[in-house]
Amino acid sequence: MAEHLDIAQGSKAEKYAALLPQIAAVVEAETDTIANMANVASMIQETFGFLWTGFYRVTTDDMLILGPFQGPMACTRIKLGRGVCGTAWAEDRTIIVPDVDQFPGHIACSSASRSEIVVPMHYDDEVVGVLDIDSAELNTFDETDKEWLEKIVNLL
Ligand code: SME
Repeated sequence: MAEHLDIAQGSKAEKYAALLPQIAAVVEAETDTIANMANVASMIQETFGFLWTGFYRVTTDDMLILGPFQGPMACTRIKLGRGVCGTAWAEDRTIIVPDVDQFPGHIACSSASRSEIVVPMHYDDEVVGVLDIDSAELNTFDETDKEWLEKIVNLL
């Protein structure tokens, strides 16, 4: 699998276009969402080499808990409305942060993180978790990432 992903060439959109059907195939073959989150985090990370790619799951009315991820260890609990993840959950929208230092309340799990994108995942119209990706570079994420990552999260 990693060999496949490593040879993905071209623009960001081309990489996502190659990745999406591979993720769809993996997710269709397994019903367990946590197992699928684990493979999706790995496949995104292997394709793009981000600093951190992973999931936080909604566990109670007001708490996210760390789920499957790739990268350095991370904060385990994030309250509703806190940080980028808790804000994306509370507002039920994808948030692109070009510079984490400019996002009030950003939670710095790693001091190496410079930019971030958080995409809510849904079940029956409720937010059940978020996909969070951190980059060591400023301005990594844009509307292309938003569009494709929302498609990826919709497969889960
Ligand atoms: N930066 C996130 C916290 C999670 S870590 O980036 C993995 C936030 O502000 O919600």
